[in-house]
Amino acid sequence: MFYDTRKGDHGLPRNPFKSCVVPRPIGWITSISAAGAVNLAPYSFFNGVAGEPPMVMFATNGRKPDGSGKDSVANCEATGEFVVNIATWALREAMNRTSLHAPGAVDEFELAGLETEASALVRPPRVKASPIHLECRFHQTVELPARDPESRNAIVIGEVIGVHIADSVLTEGLVDMEKVKPIARLGYLDYTRVDHVFSMRRPG
Ligand SMILES: Cc1cc2nc3c(=O)[nH]c(=O)nc-3n(C[C@H](O)[C@H](O)[C@H](O)COP(=O)(O)O)c2cc1C
Repeated sequence: MFYDTRKGDHGLPRNPFKSCVVPRPIGWITSISAAGAVNLAPYSFFNGVAGEPPMVMFATNGRKPDGSGKDSVANCEATGEFVVNIATWALREAMNRTSLHAPGAVDEFELAGLETEASALVRPPRVKASPIHLECRFHQTVELPARDPESRNAIVIGEVIGVHIADSVLTEGLVDMEKVKPIARLGYLDYTRVDHVFSMRRPG
């Protein structure tokens, strides 16, 4: 089959696009508002985009039911810092709860029964139970086109200035994915879990 995304003429029961770019890792973003409210939310338009210095991005799509933009983006832009917590199989339910559209003043850590842990270099706290945290300094927002003029699609880019890795997920000095068990988004309501790893050498 073929469809023109501008016409949306796929004829399928659901838009298949998000099932075509998979799996998408989940950046579980902690930020703090200008007024000091702590915020936590998952973003699966998320990835690492450079290694030296390490950089990450997450992208906001759409808007909240009250029409306003997403808190994580506003907070990063206002205070210049965020933390990426890696979402794992063990934390899947808590991660999902923090996606609730909550007013800016609601602390999603409380909502999901999660403990915080202070960061080393930035103000937003970490999700204590997550085995990997990336402390980030806001770099830039890149605006994207949005079909709905009321929505904001934009990419937030940050420089990773500090990395925490729990000793419990290291095996002989390597980050062991079978211990981390990160989860990632597929299309529809589906997720996957990294629990099988294979290696390949590049040619030459
Ligand atoms: C697994 C998962 C992935 C998500 N990925 C995104 C995303 O990439 N971009 C986005 O705008 N919203 C995404 N959402 C929805 C946001 O988490 C949700 O809108 C949240 O309320 C935003 O919170 P904030 O306003 O505190 O930033 C995702 C939700 C879940 C459960």
